[in-house]
Amino acid sequence: MIELKHVDKVYSNGYKALSDVSLTINDGEFVSIIGLSGAGKSTLIRCINRMHDIQAGEILVDGVDISKLKGKALREERRNIGMIFQSFNLVKRSSVYKNVLAGRVGYHNTFDTIFGIYSKEEKMLALRSLDKFGILDKAYVRADQLSGGQQQRVALARSLTQEPKLILADEPVASLDPVTTLSVMNDFTRINRMGITILANMHHVDLAKKYSSRIIGIRAGKIVFDGKPEEVTDEVCIKIYGRSLSSNEKLGNIDEVQEIPDEPAGE
Ligand SMILES: Nc1ncnc2c1ncn2[C@@H]1O[C@H](COP(=O)(O)OP(=O)(O)OP(=O)(O)O)[C@@H](O)[C@H]1O
Ligand SMILES: [Mg+2]
Repeated sequence: MIELKHVDKVYSNGYKALSDVSLTINDGEFVSIIGLSGAGKSTLIRCINRMHDIQAGEILVDGVDISKLKGKALREERRNIGMIFQSFNLVKRSSVYKNVLAGRVGYHNTFDTIFGIYSKEEKMLALRSLDKFGILDKAYVRADQLSGGQQQRVALARSLTQEPKLILADEPVASLDPVTTLSVMNDFTRINRMGITILANMHHVDLAKKYSSRIIGIRAGKIVFDGKPEEVTDEVCIKIYGRSLSSNEKLGNIDEVQEIPDEPAGE
């Protein structure tokens, strides 16, 4: 469970990017955060994994105040939190397999990491994670030789290898075409069904509505909506975005995908 209590984030230039943000995310939820560019979506995600320090309030992960953790304790807590980015953040010149094994870095000292010392169980875990996303056959391919969708699956496999309780995703499908977007979102759903909580920043409202169990709207650093996907009406969009959304800002073919398969789609 993640609890934010009256959180303020003020950047060093004095800009207040989050203002009195309070929210609770329960285990197993799939939460999307929506809002205009600059609203504070990435800031919120980065505060939760302590990439940014906060200036007021508390962030509790399973009851532990992460804003007070340092050194080893912080590294251990971060094992529970996977990160997915729009730009995939892979080591491009390394193999897919090495990228996925890197999900275990938080469990090892620097020496082990430099010399690639991982246990047999960890290596199997990495291969199983690749298999879950239908890209086991790419294990020895260089990461930069894969398509965008495949690279995001490698990032997902790396996250799974980390064995996190929570995955934070910052616009995970923003660089993908509409079809690949849907299959990567299905991958997120499968991860969520494994019991991993998902918190994702999304630009497409329809996509957020289709895939998440809860939507949080942020505007100028404040939460202005927190509810179920079906409660995101035009009025709510006006509250979040300052205006209603035209149909060309929505993903046209989204209703065509009825069932979310338990097996990876592959490409
Ligand atoms: N390092 C920083 N220093 C100062 N201001 C920052 C910094 N990072 C972000 N900001 C400001 O904080 C606000 C929130 O930024 P943030 O990146 O969280 O927005 P966002 O909702 O993720 O936007 P986008 O949809 O464009 O990714 C913006 O006004 C941004 O300019
Ligand atoms: Mg952002």
